[in-house]
Amino acid sequence: MLNVDDRPRAAIQGGEEELQQRLAAFNRRRLHPGLPEDAWRAEIENDAAFLVIEGEFIERERLAVAARAAAAPTDPDGFDAWLTDLTATGPGQNDPLFVWLAESCTMAEMKWFLGQEVAGEAGFEDLTALTQVKMPVGPKLELARNYWDEMGRGNEKGMHGPLLETLARRLGLDARTEATVWESLALANTMAALAWNRRYAYHSIGALGIIEQTAPARAAAVGRGLKRLGVPTGDRHYFDLHAILDIKHSEAWNAEAIRPLVYADPGIAHAIAEGALMRLRCGERCFARYRRELGWRPDETGALTQPPVPA
Ligand SMILES: [Fe+2]
Ligand SMILES: [Fe+2]
Repeated sequence: MLNVDDRPRAAIQGGEEELQQRLAAFNRRRLHPGLPEDAWRAEIENDAAFLVIEGEFIERERLAVAARAAAAPTDPDGFDAWLTDLTATGPGQNDPLFVWLAESCTMAEMKWFLGQEVAGEAGFEDLTALTQVKMPVGPKLELARNYWDEMGRGNEKGMHGPLLETLARRLGLDARTEATVWESLALANTMAALAWNRRYAYHSIGALGIIEQTAPARAAAVGRGLKRLGVPTGDRHYFDLHAILDIKHSEAWNAEAIRPLVYADPGIAHAIAEGALMRLRCGERCFARYRRELGWRPDETGALTQPPVPA
């Protein structure tokens, strides 16, 4: 049974909340293996409307980072340095939320945070598989090596997706889309849009690469928090693994996928830069919303401060 959202696009009036919920439903359906149905023509017409809605959303996001991306150097060495610098200076980097998760949040707060993160997890392996289509051999091979690691090198026990599902199940996380803040859905919807639409293929390379580059510090913080809260080693393996492995993944992605693409065509650099910044901006927006939802309040300077530790 197709679950096609066939309301006309003009019906999206509920702002970001409704937009992201409906784009999330669109992504679930279009990525799901299906069967031919009698209503396939109507489905295509509906998809066309959603592709426009999605395109308008993505172009809005792209515009927000375009100026910063346009300032990136387009020679391979210069671009590499610019990209590396985003770990320190990119949107949402060093967010105080992660020190708090590592050192002082409660189990309930950690579970709420993880529920949002799991719901917003678009599946790195599938995004990589979609992105590598028709890429030049060098970058294609790097994406293949990364994909193979995501797939546990052919071993189900080592697959990354199920590792996260294990943690979600053990902790009883609430990862229903309805319980997810729109910022987290927007992150997943952005990643899916970049990987699915070939006009954003290089944006997707940048967005996936910046995940590898910036994930280790956050994964390490969450891993520390889970350990502090008494979650067994096996259950928190997803975070401990990514705290280490993604450092290697990032080095390889930047050297073997991004560098050759920029070398071959400097015009691609700004697309990669936009993709990286778009992904970081999505994260920044999530962290700010998470802090608000988790009870962080502005102090006299306007900076949000962490909630008091319960007695
Ligand atoms: Fe992974
Ligand atoms: Fe990775």
